Amino acid sequence: MNGPVNRQWLLARRPVGAVVPEDFRYCEAPLPRPGVDEVLVRSLYFGFDASQRIWLTDHGGYLPPVQIGEPVRTMGIGQVVDSRHPDYAVGDLVEGFLTWQDYNIARADGPMPLRVLPKSEDMPLTWHLGVFGVGGLTAYFGVTDVLKVGPGDTVVVSAATGATGSLVAGICKAAGADRVIGIAGGAEKCRWIVEHAGYDEAIDYQNEDIGARLAELCPEGVNAYFDNVGGDMLDSLLLSMAPRGRILICGAMASGYTDVQLQGPRNYMFICVKMLTVQGILLTFYRDRLQEGGQEMGRLIAEGRLHVEEHIVDGFEHAPALLPTLFSGKRPGKLLLKVADPV
Ligand SMILES: NC(=O)c1ccc[n+]([C@@H]2O[C@H](COP(=O)([O-])OP(=O)(O)OC[C@H]3O[C@@H](n4cnc5c(N)ncnc54)[C@H](OP(=O)(O)O)[C@@H]3O)[C@@H](O)[C@H]2O)c1
Repeated sequence: MNGPVNRQWLLARRPVGAVVPEDFRYCEAPLPRPGVDEVLVRSLYFGFDASQRIWLTDHGGYLPPVQIGEPVRTMGIGQVVDSRHPDYAVGDLVEGFLTWQDYNIARADGPMPLRVLPKSEDMPLTWHLGVFGVGGLTAYFGVTDVLKVGPGDTVVVSAATGATGSLVAGICKAAGADRVIGIAGGAEKCRWIVEHAGYDEAIDYQNEDIGARLAELCPEGVNAYFDNVGGDMLDSLLLSMAPRGRILICGAMASGYTDVQLQGPRNYMFICVKMLTVQGILLTFYRDRLQEGGQEMGRLIAEGRLHVEEHIVDGFEHAPALLPTLFSGKRPGKLLLKVADPV
C-alpha cells in the first residue's frame, strides 16, 4: 500500500453481554477522499463513552448502530488534512464524531456539529473531550437546566468518579447546593471523590447499604438525584427521595448497555406518592447551547470550582481493550486514548 496507512479497528461481531476486545478486528485501508461538504480528519485523541457500547447493539439506541465491518464510532479530536467544506481549513483542530481509524471523513451536520477548536489556548487539547465535551456539558446542563439545583438542596450523584459525575459536585456547589453526596465503588474511589471532586460525603455501593447510609446522611430525604447508573441503585434512591424531589436520568451503567430495552424501576410508584419529577437528558438536545455551556464550565474552572481528572493511554492499538474498562475497573475522570500529535 502506498502513502500513509489508515489503521482501523472494525466491529468484528455484535458483542453478547459485556463487550470484549475480541469483538473488534484490526485492519489497514487506503486514505478515504472527502466528497462535497466533507472533510478528511486525522485522528489525534479518542474519548471513551459508555454509549459506544449501545451503538454496538442491533438497535444502536439514539444513533444508527455500527454495522459489522465498520470502524467503531467514537467522540474524538482530530486535525483537518483535506477540506471540501468552507467552514473547515487544513490544519484546523476539530472535535466531534470520529471512528476508530487514523483518517476519518467527517461532516459538519449530523447529531452533533463538528466543532472547530480555538487556536491558541493555555489548556490541554484533551479537555475538549472531557470537561468541555459530552461528560462536562451534560453535567452542566443536567445540574443547571434539568435538576435546577439551588440553595437548600441535598444532591446525590451516582458514578461519581466518572467523566460526568466527577464534575457534578463542583457545579452543584457553585449553584448553591447545601450538600452533595457521591456514590462510588470501593473505599479508595470514595476517598477520591471527597478529596478531589468536591463531594461532602461518599457512599461505597460495593460495600455499603445505600438506603441505610442515605437515611443516616440525609434523614429529610434527597432533593435531587443525578442518576448515571439506574437499576437497583435507582430503586434505592426512589425510596430515599424527599417529597417533590427531582431525578435526572443521565445513564444506566448498571445495565452494562448490552441492550437498549431495559427493565424499569420496581419502586416507580414512589414517583407518584412523593410527587417526584423524573427527566432524562441527551446532550444533542442542547446542540444550540454548547457554546454557552462551555463558557460556563470555563468560568467554573477559572474560579477553582472544578477538578479536572484525565487518564490518557497512548497508542491506537489499545482501543479495544479500553472500552470494557468503562464498566469495571476504570480510574476516576475521563478516559482517553492518544493516537497522534497535531502537526
Ligand atoms: N445522557 C447523556 O447525554 C450522557 C452524557 C454523558 C454520559 N452519560 C452517561 O453517564 C454515565 C456515566 O458516564 P461517564 O462518562 O460519566 O462515566 P465513565 O467515565 O465512563 O465511568 C464509568 C462510571 O460508571 C461507574 N460504574 C460502572 N459500572 C457500574 C455499576 N454496575 N454500578 C455503579 N456504577 C458503575 C464507574 O464507577 P465505579 O468505578 O465507582 O464503579 C464509573 O464512575 C453513563 O451511563 C453514560 O452513558 C450520558
